[in-house]
Amino acid sequence: MCGIFGCISKDVKVAPVIRAALKRLEYRGYDSVGVATLHEGGIHIKKDQGKIDEVHRLYNLDDLPGNVGIGHTRWATHGAPYQANAHPHIDCLGEIAVVHNGIIENFSELKAELESSGHKFRSKTDTEVIPHLIEDNLKKGLGLVEATLEALKRLRGSYAIAVISSREPDKIVCARMESPLVLGLGENAVYCASDIPAFLPLTNRAVVIENGELVILRADGYEIRSIEDWKQIIREPEIIEWTAEMAEKQGYPHFMLKEIHEQPRCLTNTLRLQDQYLDLMATFLDRAGEVFLVAAGTSYHACLAASYMFSELAYLATHPVIASEFIEQEGMAVNINSTILAVSQSGETADTLSAVDYARNRAATILGLTNVVGSTLTRISRVYIIQQSGPEIGVAATKTFTSQLSVLAQLALRVAKIRGKVGHKQIEEIEEKIRRIPEIVEETIRENEDRAKKIARKYKDKPVFFFLGRGISTATAMEGRLKLMEITYIPSIAYPAGESKHGPISLIEPGFPVVFVCPMDETRKMIIGNIMEMKARGAMILSVIEKGDEEIKKLSDDYFEVPGNLPKVLTPIAFVVPLQLMAYYIAVEKGLNPDKPRNLAKSVTVK
Ligand code: M6R
Repeated sequence: MCGIFGCISKDVKVAPVIRAALKRLEYRGYDSVGVATLHEGGIHIKKDQGKIDEVHRLYNLDDLPGNVGIGHTRWATHGAPYQANAHPHIDCLGEIAVVHNGIIENFSELKAELESSGHKFRSKTDTEVIPHLIEDNLKKGLGLVEATLEALKRLRGSYAIAVISSREPDKIVCARMESPLVLGLGENAVYCASDIPAFLPLTNRAVVIENGELVILRADGYEIRSIEDWKQIIREPEIIEWTAEMAEKQGYPHFMLKEIHEQPRCLTNTLRLQDQYLDLMATFLDRAGEVFLVAAGTSYHACLAASYMFSELAYLATHPVIASEFIEQEGMAVNINSTILAVSQSGETADTLSAVDYARNRAATILGLTNVVGSTLTRISRVYIIQQSGPEIGVAATKTFTSQLSVLAQLALRVAKIRGKVGHKQIEEIEEKIRRIPEIVEETIRENEDRAKKIARKYKDKPVFFFLGRGISTATAMEGRLKLMEITYIPSIAYPAGESKHGPISLIEPGFPVVFVCPMDETRKMIIGNIMEMKARGAMILSVIEKGDEEIKKLSDDYFEVPGNLPKVLTPIAFVVPLQLMAYYIAVEKGLNPDKPRNLAKSVTVK
């Protein structure tokens, strides 16, 4: 998730406007920053790694000349955050500059093709193929708009782009496929941006650009066209009533709620990961003597779920280990044949890094799954995968958890394929469901949000909660419990349901809320038994069930329903969502700020 911005003005120097707008988009990423402007027949660029203020201090971004320009604040997805990878990117002749937010899936093929026809690339980014494609089209005699249009038709993946060219300094061409893009219409200038806060202090007249649209911005207006059939689209601006703070959260009251709602899009991003890295990692996992899945907090719950996935699909035994316990628990067993798959959204969690460091010193192979390009975990891993969730601001991990699960499920499937343990039909069924998971999660949010609000009102004063699941749902139950506990401060416990009668059941008394995670897998009959045990002791049953599971519905005081009929290994991705919503709305009911729970930090960099 990066931030892009473009500005074309009748009479104002745009560089300071662009810098200020990028500052307001910095929440979308701050690995590097860059600005390009058009002036006197040339493109002028300043860019480097670092946050906007740092780069501005070094280069004075404001003194770029000209009334037309584009800018970018980067959340690295392809290529480490150093200067050459910072946007804008240019063509061979330096006549075209492009900023981009999104992922070009087929960039490797396009890059190979362009290089073989003589194009010289300066960066490791996927974005750089775009100016080179446009350059080729300009050479064929097309104008900037048509050249951009033809380039877009070659791209697979997601993008919001803004393009300028010294050949046609009277315009900015921008376009959208999945990544957000919105126009702002000021008195003397027109803007394009990833998000409304970028231009909100300048104008509150906005036009939201839809997927598959290209826009030509001129200083006095805009023209929207369909990329597919070039039909003109007439769309009037709307007046935005948000405050700047509301706009940054896209109208949501908290980042956590925004991030819960972002999950379908993040899950779609996980379906676009580069095959070669997934395959390479799967090969390492397949060949490992033993595999340790090492992580903390929510990421540990992803590892716990993954251990069921690897076992079920790939017949691969893995050991999920809490990072801070790793050295004590497994230390002496780690050797050259061990493989550590470290999972950390930040890539900076001290407990995880210290476990990894220890394992490296014992010659183990380190694999990493993280959300942050350039994080320490990426630097010390033999192979790493970036989960592409965009920055997560809420301290409680939500979208990064479900994305981790999606990546881990894909890895398990690939190991399964290498090992030939699972039939083609089952693999195809699971692959089909993985492709559908973004829409299933979207539906889950839509169908459960109001219910979560009602349940939050009903349960908010309960002094304690119990979360139970069986099989892979144990991980879902543990994550539901962590979400509730960390943002509502309600003490909660979670167990594999079968363990509850070995001690924890003694807590139960009338009115005690017990949350059951109950997908329709082979654990369901046993879970019903556990529900009966709890009911018999007066517990209030709050269940997360498969849509249409009337039997458990009748046994429950309250329930959330999850659609999609998911295979067991994918259930945590959707079943955790109502529990995220419930935790969020209970925190709100209690008057707490879910984004900033007390005593916690987003990235725990101390041991
Ligand atoms: O950045 P990481 O994934 O390594 O972070 C691990 C934990 O600190 C993190 O998941 C923490 O438990 C969150 N507050 C959970 O919501």
